[in-house]
Amino acid sequence: MVLAFNKSPLFAGFKLYCYSQKTSVSFSFRRRMASIVNPPRDPNTLSNYNNFVTTHTVANFSIDFEKRSISGNVILSLKSITDAAAKEILLDTDYLKVENVELNGKAPKWELLPRLEPYGSVLRISLDKGVKNGDSVDLDIQTETTEKCTALGWMTPAQARSDHPYMYTQCQAIHARSIFPCQDTPDVKSTFEFNIKSPLPTLASGLATGIKDLDQDSAAVGTKLYSFKQEIPIPSYLFALASGDIAKAGIGPRSVVATGPKEIQAAKWELEGSTEKFIQTIEGIVFSYQWETYNVLVLPPSFPYGGMENPVFTFATPTLISGDRENVDVIAHELSHSYSGNLVSNASWEHFWLNEGWTTYLERRIQASVQGESHRDFSAIIGWKALQDSVAEFGDTHEFTKLIVDLKGKDPDDAFSSIPYEKGYTFLSYLEKQIGKEKWNKFIPHYFTTFARRSLDSYDFKANLLSFCESDATATAALNNVDWDAWFYTPGLPPKPDFDTSLVDICYDLAARWEETKSDKFEPHAQDIKGWTANQIVVFLNRVQGFATSLDKQATQAMGTTYGFAKSSNVEVVARYFQIALKARDESIYNPTAELLGNVGRMKFVRPLFKQLNEANRALAMETFEKNKDFYHPICRAMVEKDLFGKGSKESG
Ligand code: BES
Ligand code: ZN
Repeated sequence: MVLAFNKSPLFAGFKLYCYSQKTSVSFSFRRRMASIVNPPRDPNTLSNYNNFVTTHTVANFSIDFEKRSISGNVILSLKSITDAAAKEILLDTDYLKVENVELNGKAPKWELLPRLEPYGSVLRISLDKGVKNGDSVDLDIQTETTEKCTALGWMTPAQARSDHPYMYTQCQAIHARSIFPCQDTPDVKSTFEFNIKSPLPTLASGLATGIKDLDQDSAAVGTKLYSFKQEIPIPSYLFALASGDIAKAGIGPRSVVATGPKEIQAAKWELEGSTEKFIQTIEGIVFSYQWETYNVLVLPPSFPYGGMENPVFTFATPTLISGDRENVDVIAHELSHSYSGNLVSNASWEHFWLNEGWTTYLERRIQASVQGESHRDFSAIIGWKALQDSVAEFGDTHEFTKLIVDLKGKDPDDAFSSIPYEKGYTFLSYLEKQIGKEKWNKFIPHYFTTFARRSLDSYDFKANLLSFCESDATATAALNNVDWDAWFYTPGLPPKPDFDTSLVDICYDLAARWEETKSDKFEPHAQDIKGWTANQIVVFLNRVQGFATSLDKQATQAMGTTYGFAKSSNVEVVARYFQIALKARDESIYNPTAELLGNVGRMKFVRPLFKQLNEANRALAMETFEKNKDFYHPICRAMVEKDLFGKGSKESG
């Protein structure tokens, strides 16, 4: 069939397009052709989404805190998109029990295939006859999570700092398949309905549509049915639930913050000044906010990320609530994902920079607009350091240092780093400079309008920018100078942009004085950093990290006490300071580091701190991991295990 197709003029056109990528063949044409000619463009799913796509998902689940499982049924509406009359439906599952499958109300033949690492087991449903292109079937699957589920964090009341237990999901990148069978790829988008039974307040990545008391059912006293809908199609990785003793408070005309009742006032204070301002700012940059409400759930300390852009409710680390409103850039970031990632999604994790690079770009445009232009580069300078660190960590020829990465056979979690964020940001800023800010500002809403509710890859992005500039000779000439392949496929650092260093010069100067005078000869004074923002301290500490091994422990101790870093309430500051002190082998901070590792589960801090502690005192690192491994989210636990023990597979989790 492919051979015959090969000779057709359509295929010739498609091939030509692939090579030049300059002509603007329509997006849907390309997608249709791609599904026929090529394997699916996402290599990290085992589903046959080139034959069927999920258009609607109903999740009817019960949360069982005793058993630590989620069970129920999920109904997938699957639309056939080929004439090929595929005779099977293949869905992703990972460590999932599947109890029953119904296809349009009847019992089809189905089986769970053997595991294929790192992607899990395919649920194969046989079809008697193919489904006509454009027709849909309903699959109703009874399912239950197992203790090996990688997407769920379960907390005891103590771990939740509460009188009640707590649970939350984290599905990005490929963990949704560990909660329910699905086409676990960002290249497929579905609307959702959630009906969730839980004894505790529950929220989801949809708009609340009702709460029903189920008290009459004596086996489940206090259990309620929480319902939500998500009418904007979303990929599986944005499926989210959280349940626990959750209170809410308003932080703006279309926003609430949700967190434990004891923490709610502090969370409200931290966020109420910025949230609506950020929303209005991004509306000015892109277009109106599409998801009706923007809310933030502040999670217990084991939450493995700074933030996760689940629609309607951003999930956020409690380290955000630092009492100084200095970490609200996390909100600017997650809010920006409402456009890049959630509305316009990367088609596979190989093009993750389209999610995170665009989001970092929009986040910095918000900062520039709210705090002043110099803040854009201030943040970019911190980002550049993170980029350098990530490149150094992988090695500058490593596949994962490219903008487009090859993830065939790989686990996207292993490729995660600052590279898609910062190389992506640098690339977008470079393109902005090439065509000029005025033109670029018009391209932003054009791009988000073109791909809204869809998924795209880097070649779609390129084609869209080229076609947008087509009628503008200057912009087209500028884009002709862009070496796309070099940006997409060269590993290592991109050319360093010129940054406006006005906000960081004093931080560099102070770091230079520490470096020049070295160790004990430098006498610090609290005055040195008077009036500095936490981010300026971060810039200073980032610089010091570069020569920390040449400092002795008296020096780092003086730094920690005189500048107050050791006791800072801002984890961004403490964690960096501890890393410096660990490098200087200051034994007095070994135990405080171990203590911090028992209070924070955010991987950004946990992984480097474990690595440094491991080098300074392996026994203590091991002991600290053993003590806290149940506290960490399974993703974090697996990553730290890999870092400490070099274990390669998800089995080790
Ligand atoms: N979507 C990411 C978090 C993520 C990425 C989860 C990949 C799972 C896999 C989120 O938007 C993010 O980037 N969070 C950052 C915060 C931000 C301010 C850069 C984080 O967690 O540090
Ligand atoms: Zn992000």
